[in-house]
Amino acid sequence: MNDTQLLELLNSLSVEEKIGQLIQLSGEFFNTGAMAVGPMQKLGISEEMVQLTGSVLNVLGADRVIQIQQEYLERSRHKIPLLFMADIVYGYKTVFPIPLALGGSWDPDLVKRCNQITAKEACAAGAHVTFAPMVDVVRDARWGRCMESTGEDTYLNSVFAKAMVEGFQGDFTPGESLASCVKHYAAYGAPEGGRDYNTVDMSERRLREEYLPPYRAAVEAGCELVMTSFNTVDEIPATANSWLMDEVLRQEWGFDGVLITDYAAIAELVAHGVAEDDKDAARLAMNASVDIDMKTSCYANQLRPLLEEGRISPQKLDEAVLRVLKLKNRLGLFEDPFRGASVVREQELNNSTESKDLSRQAAIQSLVLLQNANETLPLSKGSKIALIGPYADNQDLNGLWAVYGDKSQVVTLKTAFEELLSPEHFQCTQGCELLDSDSYEGLGDFGFFTKEQTSLNSDEDKAKELNQAIELAKWADVVIFAMGEHTLQSGEAGSRTDLSLPSIQTAFMEQVLPWAKKSVLLLFNGRPLVLTDIQGKVDAILECWFPGTEGGHAIVDLLMGHANPSGRLTMSFPYAVGQVPIYYNGFSTGRPSKTSTHSVRFTSRYLDAPNEPLYPFGYGLSYHTAEYSNLEISNSVLRSGESIEATIKVHNRSAVGGDEVVQLYIRDKVGSVVRPVKELRGFQKVHLQAGESKILTFAITEDLLKFHTKEMRFEAEEGDFELYIGKSSEDYLTAVFRLEK
Ligand code: NOJ
Repeated sequence: MNDTQLLELLNSLSVEEKIGQLIQLSGEFFNTGAMAVGPMQKLGISEEMVQLTGSVLNVLGADRVIQIQQEYLERSRHKIPLLFMADIVYGYKTVFPIPLALGGSWDPDLVKRCNQITAKEACAAGAHVTFAPMVDVVRDARWGRCMESTGEDTYLNSVFAKAMVEGFQGDFTPGESLASCVKHYAAYGAPEGGRDYNTVDMSERRLREEYLPPYRAAVEAGCELVMTSFNTVDEIPATANSWLMDEVLRQEWGFDGVLITDYAAIAELVAHGVAEDDKDAARLAMNASVDIDMKTSCYANQLRPLLEEGRISPQKLDEAVLRVLKLKNRLGLFEDPFRGASVVREQELNNSTESKDLSRQAAIQSLVLLQNANETLPLSKGSKIALIGPYADNQDLNGLWAVYGDKSQVVTLKTAFEELLSPEHFQCTQGCELLDSDSYEGLGDFGFFTKEQTSLNSDEDKAKELNQAIELAKWADVVIFAMGEHTLQSGEAGSRTDLSLPSIQTAFMEQVLPWAKKSVLLLFNGRPLVLTDIQGKVDAILECWFPGTEGGHAIVDLLMGHANPSGRLTMSFPYAVGQVPIYYNGFSTGRPSKTSTHSVRFTSRYLDAPNEPLYPFGYGLSYHTAEYSNLEISNSVLRSGESIEATIKVHNRSAVGGDEVVQLYIRDKVGSVVRPVKELRGFQKVHLQAGESKILTFAITEDLLKFHTKEMRFEAEEGDFELYIGKSSEDYLTAVFRLEK
């Protein structure tokens, strides 16, 4: 349809039909031939409005989607197809590593390819829109949703935001692409105390400098939808925040796509205490130019009276409806309302060899080797290996937001090892439970995911497992512990104040470690953990996150040296939980702990822990060792409109080839406002053969130096800068230059 036809369509709709386009309901409303009555009553929504609903939440599967769409179109007066939207965050049936892991690949092209596969699989199942990417900047590991983000850095998240949107949307080919909905706008990743849904409050400068750019990068990449976040921004909940939604998103950034709320966020304006009731809440959201109401009856029941009372304007309503119609048109739904949904294609695509290969590659690139004392890894050929722990033979490797992931396809560690090794070289046992029974109680239920307990119920079973683990440890040359968080301990509403490994697991390790000749700790978790106590007790640590469908294969590839680890952390691992939020690019303070002229007592520090994290942003080990040298800068003065070059030599001095993530940071020495001690401004991932050297070049332009100045102008200020290029945010060479305008 062209714009004129869309306008004609809009003008032919009744007020109720228009409102219908702005409502999104979930699966239970679409259970049978007739719309389901129970949920309607629960939500307090009329049958007429349910019939007019414009979009569906989290219903997938070609069979079901086709049936719902067909029935809907038969009944509908204007034959405007339903939109099917779902949480397809890091995979559909084939699951890729969680985004926090994918970030560690520092490979946006890889992530783009993962999303292309995901888009194809999900299209076959009838999806039109994915609620992804999630690009919230995350600096507080207590927050369970760190797992959904690529990490703590604004620049890196922006790079990934673009890649992810491009991967999902491509050129909108039906059957191969999804419209992407960036979330959670804005600053949802900074809740006070790390408690989900809690207050977010920060200066406008910090918001614009550090939290908004990744959403903007998604919008600039052509992202079709934006989701409002649950939290407040400057004491106004995002869903009612017209400054954030209208002024910044729509007017400043020029976003003309669909703005959808997060789940029930309009009704929650009442609990927030900014709306008297649902009607007031609907008024605030509509006036903030929020288009679709996800899963409340506020728009359905309140927009008409609000219009009649003149408290919202007919233009606002029309603009919102037109945006939804344009999205449906962009997706080609008026021509083909099923858009590639097909049971046959679903079967062909789901978990295809191509998808699994990419999932394995993605996991290999994403996992981070944190420690490798005495070159324990890769494992020597012919070693006797004991694999022990609740993740040794466990298919729960998908993480919480892989809600459609096919768990039955997940390759466990045990399976992957047994494909390579015979029982003389490989033995496995569970050893201990993931959590003690009291901790399971606190987890609560999470729709798609159940808190299955492991099988060690009786004391006798537990003692037997412990003995078996000790026997295996005595037998083996190396003990591999497969430990971590329960899936439900991270993800939405998965905030924690204790970031250590569950105590039942550490107590178990203490009992087995004395018998281990060498030990490797594999970690499965959705956030950085505090590893300070355990770090000195094991030889090697591999951070596996939740690695997805091919996790078992990828981990074994790395352990056996069939692949060389190259993942680098994108979120700092705290030394102690009291340090969080902790991130590499903070400000100096007036009393920096290392360089202040004040006596130590009066510097900015903790009495009982270092200021630094245990493992910093950008950190990760490999089986090769690279040396960085000869950092040179083409000119010590950068003039406006020109660029200078920084070059560095990277040499692989070992006998194995491997990937290096070469990171560029910049520090603005003096600003009209305080500036971070360093900021990532570029990176290159390069492969170096054994013994190979490469010279890498980074272009430095004025654009890299811009920030929100004292007057809130986004520009670079003249003066001195330091430039760091190296292996991590704490391991680099330094050069200096000056900006002259
Ligand atoms: C709530 C979550 O915050 C959001 O990320 C998700 O997309 C919606 N629910 C829909 O399931």
